[in-house]
Amino acid sequence: MRGEPISTLDRIVKETIEAIERSQAQLYDIAENTRTEVNLVSSELTAVKNELNAIITEVDKLERAEKRARLRLAEVSRDFNRYTEQDIKTAYDTAYNLQIELIKLREKEKVLQYRRNHLEMSLRRLQTTVQRAEKLISQVGVVLTYLNGGLHDLSLKLGELQQTQQMALSIIRAQEEERKRVAREIHDGPAQSMANIVMRAEYCLKLLDKDPGKIREELLALQNIVMLSLQDVRKIIFDLRPMVLDDLGLAPALKRYFATYKEQYGLEIEFLFFGQERRLDSTVEAALFRIIQEAVNNIKKHAQVNSALVKMEMLPDKITISIRDMGKGFDLNSVQGDKDCNGYGLVGIRERVQLLNGEMKINTAPGKGTHISISIPLQDQA
Ligand SMILES: Nc1ncnc2c1ncn2[C@@H]1O[C@H](COP(=O)(O)OP(=O)(O)OP(=O)(O)O)[C@@H](O)[C@H]1O
Ligand SMILES: [Mg+2]
Repeated sequence: MRGEPISTLDRIVKETIEAIERSQAQLYDIAENTRTEVNLVSSELTAVKNELNAIITEVDKLERAEKRARLRLAEVSRDFNRYTEQDIKTAYDTAYNLQIELIKLREKEKVLQYRRNHLEMSLRRLQTTVQRAEKLISQVGVVLTYLNGGLHDLSLKLGELQQTQQMALSIIRAQEEERKRVAREIHDGPAQSMANIVMRAEYCLKLLDKDPGKIREELLALQNIVMLSLQDVRKIIFDLRPMVLDDLGLAPALKRYFATYKEQYGLEIEFLFFGQERRLDSTVEAALFRIIQEAVNNIKKHAQVNSALVKMEMLPDKITISIRDMGKGFDLNSVQGDKDCNGYGLVGIRERVQLLNGEMKINTAPGKGTHISISIPLQDQA
């Protein structure tokens, strides 16, 4: 379910961008072709205009010549004594030929004028098309920038939001798990012991009358139970929030924790610290402590070994942690793939690392041991 609306949104945006990019390419083609057409038409128009100018000059010239020819014909026709028949015929032919030529030339002028007007119209139309295409290209460009930038950011933001929501849910889930665990521990440990103590105290009261000699023995047993419960309570308090962590810092808290581990579970943890020890933000210290605690608990629970190695290096800008055992190892893929029946340990580690903007790698395989390496960026406090 999760992630689906975002991937759909991403897909729609991607397809829209592709469609718009295709139209943009087509618009480029249209603009380019139209520009070529504009060039062709305008050079044809120039040629037609030149031709027209030449014809107009020629028509003027011819009109003058024709007028002269008509005057000559009139003169020759009026005076029969001075001009021969041949003269009249020549004058008539000249005038006639010039008239014919003028008619032809005027016809040609008309055709050229028509052509010029037509070309001018086409040119205006083509120029409008180029302008429109260019405007569209720039508008499409704006839309594309918006889609590529703005909407992409939006889907990133949505993704982040979803991740944050998811993380908040797992934090709540982890807190609930932790509370359940504490409740179980109090129920199984101190609560049981106290019930036991109440019973034994009642028994002692009865013994006061019946068999005072046995009271000493009973009180010793009672003392023992109270001591054990005290230990339990201390352990629960330590697990909730190791006070030594607040008082002394990460490395000393870990040293103490590992010491109790050897006593309680027989697991020897070698702890190596490098770099300059310093106090970190208390939430960072607590998160790192929990991470290591989870990893070490897993070694105790699953690795089937009696020793492990924890290395920590504190640098000015980061802290690196390595937790390694040479035990049983496991198939990481099957643990990660199997979401329902798994514990919260590794998931919790991963989430804490993510919350601290860090990175984590798990190297493991059945029979090959397990190595968890973690790197967390720190604000430079040097
Ligand atoms: N150091 C290790 N050696 C061998 N197997 C491990 C180790 N760490 C983890 N595993 C395997 O990975 C699984 C998942 O570990 P995870 O800590 O997430 O859950 P869990 O320990 O089973 O339960 P929880 O931590 O909630 O008590 C374990 O069940 C175990 O099979
Ligand atoms: Mg675990």
